[in-house]
Amino acid sequence: MAFASLLAFVALAAVSRAASSAVTCSDGTAVSNAVCCDFIPLATDLQNILFMGECGEDAHEAIRLTFHDAIAISQSQGPSAGGGADGSMLIFPTVEPNFSANNGISDSVNNLIPILAMHPTISAGDLVQFAGAVALSNCPGAPQLEFLAGRKNATAPAIDGLIPEPQDNVTKILDRFADAGGFSAFEVVSLLASHSVARADKVDATLDAAPFDSTPFTFDTQIFLEVLLKGVGFPGTDNNTGEVASPLPLGDTSTGGNDTGEMRLQSDFALARDSRTACFWQGFVDEQDFMSSSFKAAMSKLAILGSNRSDLIDCSAVVPTPKPAVDKPASFPATTGPQDLELTCDSDAFPSLTVDPGAQETLIPHCPDGSEDCATVQFAGPA
Ligand code: HEM
Ligand SMILES: *[C@@H]1O[C@H](CO)[C@@H](O)[C@H](O)[C@H]1NC(C)=O
Ligand SMILES: *[C@@H]1O[C@H](CO)[C@@H](O)[C@H](O)[C@H]1NC(C)=O
Ligand SMILES: *[C@@H]1O[C@H](CO)[C@@H](O)[C@H](O)[C@H]1NC(C)=O
Ligand SMILES: *[C@@H]1O[C@H](CO)[C@@H](O)[C@H](O)[C@H]1NC(C)=O
Ligand SMILES: *[C@@H]1O[C@H](CO)[C@@H](O)[C@H](O)[C@H]1NC(C)=O
Ligand SMILES: *[C@@H]1O[C@H](CO)[C@@H](O)[C@H](O)[C@H]1NC(C)=O
Repeated sequence: MAFASLLAFVALAAVSRAASSAVTCSDGTAVSNAVCCDFIPLATDLQNILFMGECGEDAHEAIRLTFHDAIAISQSQGPSAGGGADGSMLIFPTVEPNFSANNGISDSVNNLIPILAMHPTISAGDLVQFAGAVALSNCPGAPQLEFLAGRKNATAPAIDGLIPEPQDNVTKILDRFADAGGFSAFEVVSLLASHSVARADKVDATLDAAPFDSTPFTFDTQIFLEVLLKGVGFPGTDNNTGEVASPLPLGDTSTGGNDTGEMRLQSDFALARDSRTACFWQGFVDEQDFMSSSFKAAMSKLAILGSNRSDLIDCSAVVPTPKPAVDKPASFPATTGPQDLELTCDSDAFPSLTVDPGAQETLIPHCPDGSEDCATVQFAGPA
């Protein structure tokens, strides 16, 4: 009798797991399906082992990885070209991370491989996209991304040539996004809100973590403003492939500090000025909520490339609530101003913004806490 009722209980539990009935995870989180509960300890591990609750280097790298895994798919070349957001980077770590467009991605791949092994119920593609959503939640002003679970593990790596590069022209970039997943020009610009929390290690090999805007630890609209300013110099060596002059090239390396000047990607420069994308780009300046919601919508599309939405389970409830926006309006960094704007969108007025005070060019901190020596994590690995 007791045995029979135990069997009945086990059978019932199996049924409720299969049917997508709402359940409450052991920590009290209400989710649409029991499979979502496994992501709660995963979020804890990602925060404790890798991100330390910060929007620092390890978080930035995980956000970039969501893109480089997902965009490797092609409607025109068919399924053998790549499986999209399938975790192929982690399953075949010696293949895609070695492509030149993925230079630097090996850091995040090697950091996520041990975490994948610690969570055997979770697929590699789910881990990559979930890690990006957790990382973003550490960046003040970022949206709480949608997260759908159930991607199948990659069965083959993607081919080379599918990742946009900073030296690509706007036509090539827009064509690639359209071929990967039918992205519009507006969605492409929306996705580049990610460069609000981004720095380059490889574009200029002489620099470590050259930021793309003056606030690399905050998900704000400064990137859309600063890329529109006249370039005046390079933070390191001149004219690297895919790089153009930036408006804030000064770093503080003379004092032994690690903060470098701002770097500008040629692709961001071109998207900000091209007639197909300039009004979308300008339209995000000082529009925090619009930028954040547009980025979220485009990320929902990017994150499931290669899967069918209807085959996945909505686990958005397990994505941590992001840190609130700083609520500082966009402003011209010290020494710059409206006279430096290079605007090509004729149809829309540019917002009126204040200029940060100071006779010295804004220096950009190297670490989220303002120090020069920040804690980062790097596991050795196969990539
Ligand atoms: C036109 C498309 C894009 C191009 C050409 C591009 C190019 C680049 C380049 C060259 C870097 C610097 C890599 C290095 O030297 O270390 C970078 C960094 C980054 N990108 Fe993009 N990117 C694009 C779109 C995206 C998208 C769609 C996302 C995310 C949704 C993204 C997220 C990031 C992040 C977070 C970083 C910073 C990584 C770090 O700080 O370690 N990018 N990107
Ligand atoms: C690719 O692998 C080769 C050989 O192991 C190595 O020399 C090269 O630096 C790698 N390239 C990248 C971009 O990781
Ligand atoms: C996917 O592959 C990883 C790494 O081999 C493994 O840990 C995991 O159990 C696999 N997950 C699924 C859902 O197949
Ligand atoms: C853009 O790049 C593509 C591919 O490299 C090239 O074929 C095309 O001519 C370029 N277009 C312009 C306007 O430079
Ligand atoms: C960098 O490129 C710009 C524009 O083409 C050119 O004026 C400048 O001389 C170049 N600098 C170096 C050091 O090659
Ligand atoms: C710069 O960063 C490196 C590596 O993180 C660190 O060893 C060094 O102390 C930092 N420099 C300063 C001035 O803090
Ligand atoms: C998605 O569904 C369509 C139609 O049901 C099917 O043809 C396609 O193979 C599916 N794609 C994936 C990646 O499962």
